[in-house]
Amino acid sequence: MEKMIGKTKLNLIQGDITLQETDAIVNAANTGLLGGGGVDGAIHRAGGPKILEECKKIRAKQGGCPTGEAVITSGGNMATGYVIHTVGPVWSGGNRNEEQLLRNAYYNSLNLAKENGIKSISFPSISTGVYRFPIDKAARIALTTAKEFIQEYSFEEVRFVLFSEKDLQVYEEALKGLMSVE
Ligand code: APR
Repeated sequence: MEKMIGKTKLNLIQGDITLQETDAIVNAANTGLLGGGGVDGAIHRAGGPKILEECKKIRAKQGGCPTGEAVITSGGNMATGYVIHTVGPVWSGGNRNEEQLLRNAYYNSLNLAKENGIKSISFPSISTGVYRFPIDKAARIALTTAKEFIQEYSFEEVRFVLFSEKDLQVYEEALKGLMSVE
Protein backbone atom coordinates (compact mmCIF):
# COMPACT_ATOMS: atom_id res chain seq x y z
CA MET A 1 0.00 0.00 0.00
CA GLU A 2 1.44 3.45 -0.90
CA LYS A 3 0.34 6.92 0.23
CA MET A 4 1.88 10.24 -0.73
CA ILE A 5 2.36 12.60 2.21
CA GLY A 6 3.55 15.84 0.67
CA LYS A 7 6.47 14.83 -1.55
CA THR A 8 7.23 11.65 0.43
CA LYS A 9 6.01 8.19 -0.59
CA LEU A 10 4.94 6.23 2.50
CA ASN A 11 5.10 2.61 1.37
CA LEU A 12 4.04 -0.62 3.15
CA ILE A 13 5.34 -3.91 1.71
CA GLN A 14 5.85 -7.50 2.77
CA GLY A 15 9.46 -8.66 2.36
CA ASP A 16 12.95 -9.09 3.76
CA ILE A 17 14.50 -5.84 4.93
CA THR A 18 18.03 -7.04 4.09
CA LEU A 19 17.12 -7.03 0.38
CA GLN A 20 15.81 -3.45 0.26
CA GLU A 21 17.69 -1.03 -1.99
CA THR A 22 16.70 2.14 -0.13
CA ASP A 23 19.57 4.44 0.89
CA ALA A 24 19.27 3.07 4.43
CA ILE A 25 17.61 0.21 6.31
CA VAL A 26 16.84 0.26 10.02
CA ASN A 27 17.87 -2.53 12.38
CA ALA A 28 15.83 -3.52 15.43
CA ALA A 29 18.93 -3.86 17.59
CA ASN A 30 19.56 -4.16 21.32
CA THR A 31 21.47 -1.81 23.61
CA GLY A 32 24.62 -3.93 23.34
CA LEU A 33 24.88 -3.45 19.54
CA LEU A 34 26.60 -6.85 19.14
CA GLY A 35 23.86 -8.54 17.11
CA GLY A 36 21.13 -10.99 18.05
CA GLY A 37 18.27 -12.88 16.42
CA GLY A 38 15.36 -11.69 14.25
CA VAL A 39 16.04 -8.63 12.10
CA ASP A 40 19.32 -8.00 13.97
CA GLY A 41 20.59 -11.46 13.11
CA ALA A 42 19.42 -11.21 9.50
CA ILE A 43 21.13 -7.85 8.97
CA HIS A 44 24.45 -8.94 10.49
CA ARG A 45 24.36 -12.15 8.44
CA ALA A 46 23.57 -10.35 5.18
CA GLY A 47 25.81 -7.34 5.88
CA GLY A 48 28.84 -9.33 7.00
CA PRO A 49 31.49 -8.69 9.67
CA LYS A 50 32.09 -5.04 8.66
CA ILE A 51 28.85 -4.02 10.35
CA LEU A 52 29.82 -5.66 13.64
CA GLU A 53 33.25 -4.02 13.45
CA GLU A 54 31.63 -0.62 13.06
CA CYS A 55 29.23 -1.36 15.92
CA LYS A 56 32.18 -2.29 18.15
CA LYS A 57 33.85 1.06 17.34
CA ILE A 58 30.63 2.84 18.36
CA ARG A 59 30.56 0.84 21.60
CA ALA A 60 34.17 1.75 22.29
CA LYS A 61 33.33 5.41 21.81
CA GLN A 62 29.92 5.76 23.50
CA GLY A 63 29.13 2.41 25.10
CA GLY A 64 26.03 0.75 23.65
CA CYS A 65 22.88 2.38 22.27
CA PRO A 66 20.26 3.40 24.85
CA THR A 67 16.65 2.37 24.17
CA GLY A 68 14.98 4.85 21.82
CA GLU A 69 18.31 6.13 20.45
CA ALA A 70 19.90 5.34 17.05
CA VAL A 71 23.41 4.96 15.61
CA ILE A 72 24.54 4.53 11.98
CA THR A 73 26.94 2.18 10.19
CA SER A 74 27.55 1.26 6.55
CA GLY A 75 25.45 -1.44 4.89
CA GLY A 76 28.41 -3.85 4.58
CA ASN A 77 27.71 -6.40 1.80
CA MET A 78 24.05 -5.40 1.40
CA ALA A 79 22.65 -3.26 -1.43
CA THR A 80 21.71 -0.51 1.04
CA GLY A 81 24.29 2.17 1.82
CA TYR A 82 23.60 2.49 5.55
CA VAL A 83 22.18 0.60 8.50
CA ILE A 84 20.60 2.74 11.18
CA HIS A 85 20.59 0.65 14.38
CA THR A 86 17.88 1.62 16.81
CA VAL A 87 16.70 -0.01 20.02
CA GLY A 88 13.00 -0.37 20.66
CA PRO A 89 11.51 -0.92 24.14
CA VAL A 90 10.69 -4.34 25.56
CA TRP A 91 6.91 -4.41 26.17
CA SER A 92 6.21 -4.86 29.88
CA GLY A 93 2.53 -3.97 30.12
CA GLY A 94 2.60 -0.39 28.90
CA ASN A 95 3.35 1.43 32.15
CA ARG A 96 7.08 1.78 31.64
CA ASN A 97 7.03 4.56 29.02
CA GLU A 98 7.17 1.96 26.22
CA GLU A 99 5.01 4.00 23.81
CA GLN A 100 7.22 7.09 24.09
CA LEU A 101 10.40 5.00 23.75
CA LEU A 102 9.07 3.37 20.57
CA ARG A 103 8.17 6.84 19.20
CA ASN A 104 11.72 7.95 20.03
CA ALA A 105 13.23 4.99 18.16
CA TYR A 106 11.36 5.92 14.97
CA TYR A 107 11.91 9.67 15.40
CA ASN A 108 15.66 9.35 16.12
CA SER A 109 16.14 6.96 13.18
CA LEU A 110 14.43 9.43 10.82
CA ASN A 111 16.41 12.32 12.29
CA LEU A 112 19.72 10.47 11.84
CA ALA A 113 18.72 9.73 8.22
CA LYS A 114 17.97 13.43 7.68
CA GLU A 115 21.35 14.42 9.21
CA ASN A 116 23.12 12.05 6.80
CA GLY A 117 21.32 13.25 3.68
CA ILE A 118 19.53 9.90 3.32
CA LYS A 119 16.54 10.17 0.94
CA SER A 120 14.95 6.74 1.27
CA ILE A 121 14.73 4.49 4.33
CA SER A 122 13.24 1.08 5.16
CA PHE A 123 11.95 0.17 8.63
CA PRO A 124 11.10 -3.21 10.12
CA SER A 125 8.30 -3.48 12.66
CA ILE A 126 10.45 -2.48 15.65
CA SER A 127 9.84 -4.18 19.04
CA THR A 128 7.02 -6.43 17.79
CA GLY A 129 9.04 -9.68 17.75
CA VAL A 130 11.21 -10.75 20.67
CA TYR A 131 10.32 -7.51 22.48
CA ARG A 132 6.61 -8.44 22.38
CA PHE A 133 5.19 -4.95 21.76
CA PRO A 134 1.54 -5.41 20.61
CA ILE A 135 1.74 -4.93 16.85
CA ASP A 136 -1.53 -2.96 16.47
CA LYS A 137 -0.29 -0.34 18.95
CA ALA A 138 3.22 -0.40 17.45
CA ALA A 139 1.89 0.11 13.93
CA ARG A 140 -0.07 3.21 14.98
CA ILE A 141 2.97 4.64 16.76
CA ALA A 142 5.31 3.88 13.84
CA LEU A 143 3.04 5.41 11.19
CA THR A 144 2.01 8.43 13.27
CA THR A 145 5.65 9.25 14.07
CA ALA A 146 6.66 8.85 10.41
CA LYS A 147 3.73 10.97 9.17
CA GLU A 148 4.45 13.78 11.63
CA PHE A 149 8.17 13.76 10.74
CA ILE A 150 7.61 13.83 6.96
CA GLN A 151 5.10 16.65 7.31
CA GLU A 152 8.09 18.73 8.48
CA TYR A 153 10.84 17.18 6.33
CA SER A 154 10.49 15.39 2.97
CA PHE A 155 12.15 12.11 2.06
CA GLU A 156 11.70 10.42 -1.32
CA GLU A 157 10.40 7.27 0.40
CA VAL A 158 9.75 5.92 3.89
CA ARG A 159 9.13 2.19 3.55
CA PHE A 160 7.87 -0.30 6.16
CA VAL A 161 8.98 -3.85 5.36
CA LEU A 162 6.73 -6.36 7.15
CA PHE A 163 7.91 -9.93 7.39
CA SER A 164 4.48 -11.58 7.27
CA GLU A 165 1.23 -10.96 5.37
CA LYS A 166 -0.58 -10.66 8.71
CA ASP A 167 1.79 -7.96 9.93
CA LEU A 168 1.39 -6.11 6.62
CA GLN A 169 -2.40 -6.18 7.06
CA VAL A 170 -2.10 -4.72 10.57
CA TYR A 171 0.02 -1.86 9.23
CA GLU A 172 -2.36 -1.28 6.30
CA GLU A 173 -5.32 -1.02 8.68
CA ALA A 174 -3.37 1.40 10.87
CA LEU A 175 -2.46 3.56 7.87
CA LYS A 176 -6.10 3.65 6.69
CA GLY A 177 -7.10 4.74 10.19
CA LEU A 178 -4.44 7.44 10.25
CA MET A 179 -5.41 8.86 6.87
CA SER A 180 -9.12 8.86 7.68
CA VAL A 181 -8.63 11.31 10.56
CA GLU A 182 -7.07 13.87 8.18
N1 APR B 1 13.00 -8.49 7.39
C1 APR B 1 11.94 -7.78 7.90
N2 APR B 1 11.38 -8.03 9.10
C2 APR B 1 11.89 -9.06 9.82
C3 APR B 1 13.00 -9.85 9.37
C4 APR B 1 13.54 -9.52 8.09
N3 APR B 1 14.58 -10.20 7.57
N4 APR B 1 13.27 -10.79 10.32
C5 APR B 1 12.38 -10.61 11.32
N5 APR B 1 11.54 -9.59 11.02
C6 APR B 1 10.42 -9.03 11.80
C7 APR B 1 9.84 -9.91 12.88
O1 APR B 1 8.91 -10.81 12.30
C8 APR B 1 9.14 -8.86 13.74
O2 APR B 1 7.90 -8.54 13.15
O3 APR B 1 10.92 -7.90 12.51
C9 APR B 1 10.05 -7.62 13.60
C10 APR B 1 10.90 -7.31 14.82
O4 APR B 1 11.24 -8.52 15.45
P1 APR B 1 12.69 -8.72 16.17
O5 APR B 1 13.71 -8.88 15.13
O6 APR B 1 12.49 -9.81 17.18
O7 APR B 1 12.97 -7.34 16.90
P2 APR B 1 12.44 -6.77 18.29
O8 APR B 1 11.10 -7.29 18.66
O9 APR B 1 12.66 -5.29 18.19
O10 APR B 1 13.46 -7.38 19.34
C11 APR B 1 14.79 -6.93 19.32
O11 APR B 1 15.64 -9.15 19.22
O12 APR B 1 16.98 -10.04 17.64
C12 APR B 1 16.99 -9.47 18.89
O13 APR B 1 19.12 -8.40 19.05
C13 APR B 1 17.72 -8.18 18.92
O14 APR B 1 17.68 -8.05 21.30
C14 APR B 1 17.09 -7.52 20.11
C15 APR B 1 15.64 -7.96 20.02
